[in-house]
Amino acid sequence: MRTENRFKVLVLVGSPKGKAGNGYSAIQNLEAEMSKLGPIQFTYLFLNKVDLKPCLGCFACVSRGENLCPLKDDREKIEALIDEHDGIILSSPGYVQNVSGLMKNFSDRFAYTHHRPKYFQKKVLLVANGGAGLDKTLSALSLAIGGPKVVGKLAVLSPPWPLKDKAKSKNEKNTRAAATKFYQSLKDNVLPSPTLTDLLMFKFFKATSKECQTWLPADYEYYSELEGYYYRVKVNPVKRGVAAVIVRLVGFLMRDIGPPKLQGAQEKQE
Ligand SMILES: Cc1cc2nc3c(=O)[nH]c(=O)nc-3n(C[C@H](O)[C@H](O)[C@H](O)COP(=O)(O)O)c2cc1C
Repeated sequence: MRTENRFKVLVLVGSPKGKAGNGYSAIQNLEAEMSKLGPIQFTYLFLNKVDLKPCLGCFACVSRGENLCPLKDDREKIEALIDEHDGIILSSPGYVQNVSGLMKNFSDRFAYTHHRPKYFQKKVLLVANGGAGLDKTLSALSLAIGGPKVVGKLAVLSPPWPLKDKAKSKNEKNTRAAATKFYQSLKDNVLPSPTLTDLLMFKFFKATSKECQTWLPADYEYYSELEGYYYRVKVNPVKRGVAAVIVRLVGFLMRDIGPPKLQGAQEKQE
C-alpha cells in the first residue's frame, strides 16, 4: 500500500533472461521516467526466480477455490505481494506473437481471478517488448490477472539486434507517455464506474455461477454475496438494462455449453 506518499509498484518480469533481458531495461527506463514525476518505489519480481510451478490443469482453483490448489509454491506469496502494491506492471517479451512461457504460466496459475476477481483498487500497466506482433502480446498480457483496471499499454521495440536512432526515440517517447499515464492513474483512488463490457462480464459470471453451481461451487459462493456489481458503485440504469438484455441473449446463444440438468432436478420439474 501507499506509504509516506510514495506509490508502490510491483513489476512482474516475464522474460526467462531476468535482469539480463531487454524487458528489464525497458522497465528501468520507465521507472526513471516515473521517478521524475514524484516519489515512487519499484519492486521487481522475476518470474524466472520465483517458485511458481506449471499449472497441473486440475481446475481445482477455479471450481473449488484457490486454497485447494495441490501445488505448494510461491503463488500465495505473490498474491500477498500484489496486495501490498498500488500498481502492477506486467512485462513480457513477445514470443511467437504471444507472452513468454513464464508469463503464460503465471496467468494460468491466476486463472481463478477471472472467475472471482479482486484487487479492484490496483492499477495495471502492460509492457511488451520485442519486434513484430506486440499488439498480440499486449492482448495476451491483458488477461494475466482478473480484477484490476488496465490503465495503459506500452510496446517497446527491442529486436535481437541494435536499434536505429528513430526506433530509440520512439521507445523514449512512448515510455514517457506511459509513465505519465500510469503515474496519474495511481493518484486517482476512486473506483471506476463499470463499462458495458465490465457489467456484461459480471452478469455473465454471476448467471453462470448459478447455472453451474454444482461444478463451480467457489464461484457460486462468491457471486451469491454480490448484487449489482463487484463493488458498490453507481451504474447508469440504461446501461444496466442493456447489459441484462445482452446477457440473456448470450446465455441463449451459448446454451449448448451449459451443463445438463441433474437427474433429480429433472424429475422434480416433471
Ligand atoms: C522463443 C522466442 C520467440 C520469439 N518470437 C518473436 C516474435 O514472434 N516476434 C518478434 O518480433 N520477436 C520475437 N522474438 C524476439 C524477442 O521478442 C526479442 O528478442 C525480445 O527483445 C526479447 O526480450 P527479453 O530480452 O526481455 O527476453 C522471440 C524470441 C524468442 C526467444
